[in-house]
Amino acid sequence: MKKILIKNATIVNQGEILESDVLVEGEYIKLIGKSLSDPTAEVIDAQGKYLIPGVIDDQVHFREPGLTHKGTIATESRAGLAGGITSYIEQPNTIPQTVTIAALEDKMATANASSFSNYSFNFGGTNDNLEELKRLDKNACAGVKLFLGSSTGNMLVDNQQVLESIFSSTEMVISAHCEDEHIIRTNMELYKERYGDDIPMSSHPLIRSAEACYVSSSNAIALAKKTNARLHVFHVSTARETELFRNDIPLKDKRITAEVCTHHLWFSSEDYNEMGSLIKWNPAVKTAQDRDALWGALNDDRIDVLATDHAPHTLEEKNNVYTSAPSGGPLVQHSLVALMEKQKEGKISLTRLIEKMCHNPAILFNIEKRGFIREGYYADLVLIDPNSSWNVSKDNIAYKCGWSPFEGVKFSSTVTHCFVNGHLAYENGNFSTVRNAKRLTFER
Ligand code: DOR
Repeated sequence: MKKILIKNATIVNQGEILESDVLVEGEYIKLIGKSLSDPTAEVIDAQGKYLIPGVIDDQVHFREPGLTHKGTIATESRAGLAGGITSYIEQPNTIPQTVTIAALEDKMATANASSFSNYSFNFGGTNDNLEELKRLDKNACAGVKLFLGSSTGNMLVDNQQVLESIFSSTEMVISAHCEDEHIIRTNMELYKERYGDDIPMSSHPLIRSAEACYVSSSNAIALAKKTNARLHVFHVSTARETELFRNDIPLKDKRITAEVCTHHLWFSSEDYNEMGSLIKWNPAVKTAQDRDALWGALNDDRIDVLATDHAPHTLEEKNNVYTSAPSGGPLVQHSLVALMEKQKEGKISLTRLIEKMCHNPAILFNIEKRGFIREGYYADLVLIDPNSSWNVSKDNIAYKCGWSPFEGVKFSSTVTHCFVNGHLAYENGNFSTVRNAKRLTFER
């Protein structure tokens, strides 16, 4: 069995930063310790680099099947390796939508044949697939996704009775996109009356407003409390919503959890004039005050997980007037290094960043043997050089859509190595052609 010895690394893991070596044997972490040696192992000198567990991204849209002109499971999972993402949970708003067990297994088969990193999927709940959802094995996939506000893919669940039945009848984590549809539609009508189709991009957070987010998140949380459902609120984007979450219980015991995304921590409404539709996301990027509050809630544990909501669209699609430019943007390649900049600015500690991006998704979804650097765990490992600068430009973007909202930005950290189940899948700009990804398994 192949052995790799990572020497002199600065390991960031489980709240600690310590110098150590790691011996990988086959797919697993065999030994962690000082001054390890093994003459049969290939040695990688990690002096001056951080060694972290592979990032687990709990919200990505890889567009396959049906939207493969924007991205595929192969292209986007591969791009994620350059950003240290070794496992992901992909969302059901594809064509066809992942709303039947057969469609879920088809996606699993596609990922099995083409994914470069470990995969699972969310099963989409709709107004009319409750019986199918009840038949779903709780270990078959990551969980259930509900769009409680419409976004790309037309998957709005707006029948209250159905919603209550879904919340009452699944033990799985329900990940919810929360934006109140009625408030958004009313705002949209007002802006259309005023501007026609060419609404200024800066109106996006006023149309898909903070109020729309708060009302929808509050309703979802009230329903979860009533039904004792396990609710995970995706991409929290406002200061007010952060008040809805608790930090006085450990993550493993929480019934209601929250996720924040990279773009809501990086951009603010001040950026719309320069960036236009490139930072049009649902939920919208909001004010600088909202952004500050999200950092606060991430740091005091009201927000549990930091993810990307990677959602590529082509530039041609993005270069449209407000009403026809789709929401979403690609992030998996740049999220970790972008957040390393924020860590250097003092917005978050290194150990907490790794907790939110690597450990907590594993705890929250009960993912087996991943998310930590531990003997006996899968060797999903990432080396980061914190003193190696680079500029994001067209020639180093790995997304199929070929653009990034970070183009022109200089990052001072670089992901140099990314291991997936013990296989060196990415090294200094080069991707391995060998795939060694696995379907995620769960301990529930
Ligand atoms: O901005 C977004 N884009 N938000 C979503 O919830 C969906 C995503 C997409 O799939 O394009």
